[in-house]
Amino acid sequence: MSADGGGVSVSSFDVGAVDEFPEESITARTVGDVEIVVIRQGGEFVAMPDRCTHQRYPLSDGELLEGKIKCVHHGATFDLKSGRATLPAIKKIQLFQVAEADGRVMVTLQEL
Ligand code: FES
Repeated sequence: MSADGGGVSVSSFDVGAVDEFPEESITARTVGDVEIVVIRQGGEFVAMPDRCTHQRYPLSDGELLEGKIKCVHHGATFDLKSGRATLPAIKKIQLFQVAEADGRVMVTLQEL
């Protein structure tokens, strides 16, 4: 599924069955040509680029804290609801929309 409008392109990708993502997990996926991580915590799914905004190391080897993911490289954390960063990262991380449909996890990537 994809739609174009006003220079914004949106695509939804099926990243797997809900059951493939254990509770409290961080899973790396490639959708299109974008590397992302899919996080499941508290029954909720969160998706974001697999790139820390500090020095672009992967987050897929990061650590899941309560409501946050921690980059193990220099210790920045990102809030799973807002994407807000803590030092040494300054820039918040982009969060992708995630929806469950018929037992599948769908991630929507938006390119501006
Ligand atoms: S690359 Fe993630 S904290 Fe430095």
